[in-house]
Amino acid sequence: MSRKTDVLRIKKAKSFGGEISVPGDKSISHRAVMLAAISNGPCRVDGFLPSNDCLSTVGAIRALGIQVDILDEDKYGPYRLMVHGRGGKFTPPKEDIDCGISGTTMRLLSGILAGQKFISALVGDESLSQRPMQRIIEPLKLMGCEIIASGKNNSAPLTIHGADLESVRYELPIASAQVKSAIILAGLFAKGKTTVVEPLQTRDHTEKMLDFFQVKTIRTNDEISIDGGQVLESRDIIVPGDISSAAFWFVSAAAFSGSKLTVKNVGLNPSRNGILKILTRMGANVSESIDTSGNGEEIGNVSIEGVGLKGIEIDGDIVPNIIDEIPIIAVAGALAEGKTVIKDAAELRVKESDRISAVAGNLRAMGADVKETDDGMVINGGKPLVGANIDSYGDHRIAMAFSVAGLFAEGETVINNPECIAVSYPNFEVHLKELLSPNKRGLDEPITVIRSLSVEDDKN
Ligand code: S3P
Repeated sequence: MSRKTDVLRIKKAKSFGGEISVPGDKSISHRAVMLAAISNGPCRVDGFLPSNDCLSTVGAIRALGIQVDILDEDKYGPYRLMVHGRGGKFTPPKEDIDCGISGTTMRLLSGILAGQKFISALVGDESLSQRPMQRIIEPLKLMGCEIIASGKNNSAPLTIHGADLESVRYELPIASAQVKSAIILAGLFAKGKTTVVEPLQTRDHTEKMLDFFQVKTIRTNDEISIDGGQVLESRDIIVPGDISSAAFWFVSAAAFSGSKLTVKNVGLNPSRNGILKILTRMGANVSESIDTSGNGEEIGNVSIEGVGLKGIEIDGDIVPNIIDEIPIIAVAGALAEGKTVIKDAAELRVKESDRISAVAGNLRAMGADVKETDDGMVINGGKPLVGANIDSYGDHRIAMAFSVAGLFAEGETVINNPECIAVSYPNFEVHLKELLSPNKRGLDEPITVIRSLSVEDDKN
């Protein structure tokens, strides 16, 4: 017996650059659907990211009795939704709610469900079922709901017995926007003022979007407080392009001598734009222009010119800001001259894959000099990369980071299981082809990227 699997074959790029708009921000798309659902009326969401992760949130919200209409469903074009908010009223779900591979869906939704007076069960795929959930279970239980985690080490499936919630003051043991957001959302349904203290600033999309929906959160230094019982006023939301998706092109351009790239309409929220600071420190020519501020989120254009990169040390406060970009930053480190040290990033071990080990192992397979540490890695950059067989570990950011590495490697780089890319960037391949052919010779023409089927022996 044999079975066919899809692979993405990448060859060394001859040119790179152009102008592009990346699809909608994943974090903001999740929040747009959830907050619109608890608002008091219909909300249009323009630029929603139709990726597997965000579609898990749409499915979950629909399972709770909220009508979500897809207005434009061109997967690669403008994508708009209409979410019919019911002011925080939900219908008890008839079945388990499937969160797919999406940690954001499971953790943020748990915060909302903690305050609903019914029982709901949240399930996820194999990867999500291994991810830590105690981090949300502890604070939500302190607020008065019951959560039973039936996976290993208190992981999913989760059964949530919603209840009348009491407010808490909770100091986050780890810097996590998902945990912060779960507590803030539960706080909306709690009696009194709920306060979250974060050790380091994490992305603040939940606070900004609540503010846009006329719900007040107060930030003083490292504390965020919300009064329970506030009603979200329905309104339309614009989702900016995802800077975490743009990061793959930023690094490609920065490391490609002579390239010129502009990414338009990308989210430039200061709690997410650390990648631009990192690339500037590595020597790239980066310019930003903030054009509009939609729903309180900064949006603008970023231009980057390719130069030689140099290694840097990355640790401390900036780490939560760039947590999703570290795989591609590590690729930049391998392409840079000198040493790049990444520290304080142990959280990467509990993402969709163990990203420290996945990045270090794959970079080594490509000939890079990389040493894995408990909370990061040390990369002695500048060694020539060679094409290799890359295991994506079913992790979108690993698959995309190594597609970029393949553009700089001699020979062919084969990305296995590239379908996981659809978790955050469904049209990644289309955009990659466009950026590799600045004269736009036609997207169907295979230039450097070839998607092919390989036949594997089935050993069973
Ligand atoms: C996210 C927060 C981050 C990030 C994830 C999305 C969010 O996770 O890695 O991709 O939308 O809040 P943590 O909050 O667990 O660090």
